[in-house]
Amino acid sequence: MAQTATLTIDGKTYELPIIVGTEGEKAIDITKLRDQTGLITYDPGFGNTGSCKSAITFIDGEKGILRYRGIPVEAFETNPNFVEVAYLLIFGHLPNAQEKLNFSERLTKNELLNESMKHHFEGFPVTAPPMAILSAMINTLSCYHHQFFELEDNDAFMEMAARLISKIRTIAAFSYRRSLGLPFIYPDPKLRYCANFLHMMFSLPYEQYYIEPEIEDAMNLLLILHADHEQNCSTSTVRIVESSEANCFASCAAGVCALWGRLHGGANEKVLEMLEKIHQGGITPEECIKMAKDKNSSFRLMGFGHRVYKNYDPRAKIIKTMVDKVLTKRKINDPLINIARRIEELALADSYFIDRKLYPNVDFYSGIMLRALGIPTNMFTVIFAMGRLPGWIAQWREQHMDSSMRIARPRQIYIGNNEMSFVPLEQR
Ligand code: CMC
Repeated sequence: MAQTATLTIDGKTYELPIIVGTEGEKAIDITKLRDQTGLITYDPGFGNTGSCKSAITFIDGEKGILRYRGIPVEAFETNPNFVEVAYLLIFGHLPNAQEKLNFSERLTKNELLNESMKHHFEGFPVTAPPMAILSAMINTLSCYHHQFFELEDNDAFMEMAARLISKIRTIAAFSYRRSLGLPFIYPDPKLRYCANFLHMMFSLPYEQYYIEPEIEDAMNLLLILHADHEQNCSTSTVRIVESSEANCFASCAAGVCALWGRLHGGANEKVLEMLEKIHQGGITPEECIKMAKDKNSSFRLMGFGHRVYKNYDPRAKIIKTMVDKVLTKRKINDPLINIARRIEELALADSYFIDRKLYPNVDFYSGIMLRALGIPTNMFTVIFAMGRLPGWIAQWREQHMDSSMRIARPRQIYIGNNEMSFVPLEQR
């Protein structure tokens, strides 16, 4: 028998349905609450609010589990392939050989930007934050591909998804080249997704960048670990924009802006800044921990804590292992890794962090990883966005195909003035 919850207000009782997900997690369905009771719920930050039903990603924050379409992320560690995972998230199953070939060909066919888009890059100052360029340029894509505003069938959708996923890496690499005043390096159709990105980032017109297979694997795995994370801030933003029936380019451009902040994707950059500061002697790891605990300080231990994970973030665990491999392979002795390890050790033994269940999140070690790959700090969050794009597209599609979805429009509790009379200027 279906379970219900009972709510009593002023002596009157209401039965509210309880819905159960495939992993047993439960929610009280309040869709009729205001109609029946005249009341709304209050949940700033949406910590207790399920905004949708979704079949894409499952997280158990208490146990530290993350699965894409049912597959644990750990399964992607061997022979990591970001394109396969993108396909899985968006279309719901791992592609067979023909589907993979077809999707990869679409990515290759769409890797160039319209030549006139180059002028847009030239219009940005060289000091422009790459996240601002990324968001602006994804929105600019909608000026060139507006035939995809109406997605009539699955083929049109797949073509639009391939364009976005392919072009974001060209935009990301071009924004980096622009910041250094270097010539743009065009994509090479012979290279696979991640290798092609590294080529556009680091090759010179007279010298092809050599891509070591281990580095290509590390890049693939890093993007996979960022590929989706259910209803986080940027994904919820993408869904909210889509709910007004805005197109996928516009929705993802908004997602980039939401990701930019330091509490979300921007944390990876801030972790590196924090580690650098410690390295340069500005502050010790012990002082860092002390400041993070001080309620009079706005300082937070960047790369620690998570709304959903109350256990070690499984992505951080994988990246931590991968960092060791890449540093060894590249014979890099990065002093920041020892500082990061020391901070982790101090925090995990401190009752402040233990009591609040604050563990390293994905951003804690990803910066060191990206540094080892030669990626500059101001590009870290851009790489996060490249990785998250398939997740945004998958969530956009899921909602777009759900005929029961309504425009997102929360309510509020008004706490302003009661009715007042207007005072003419001369009487104020
Ligand atoms: N350093 C110090 N204290 C912290 C931290 C931290 N990094 N994170 C949470 N706390 C404390 C917080 O002050 C609060 O303490 P109290 O109960 O005494 O008031 C308690 O832990 C609960 O924190 P919260 O702010 O209510 O938690 P939240 O779910 O609203 O915020 C978070 C989650 C990720 C924004 C937060 O943990 C944080 O600011 N972390 C640092 C930024 C960061 O690493 N962000 C990346 C998140 S993972 C990747 C992504 O999603 O983008």
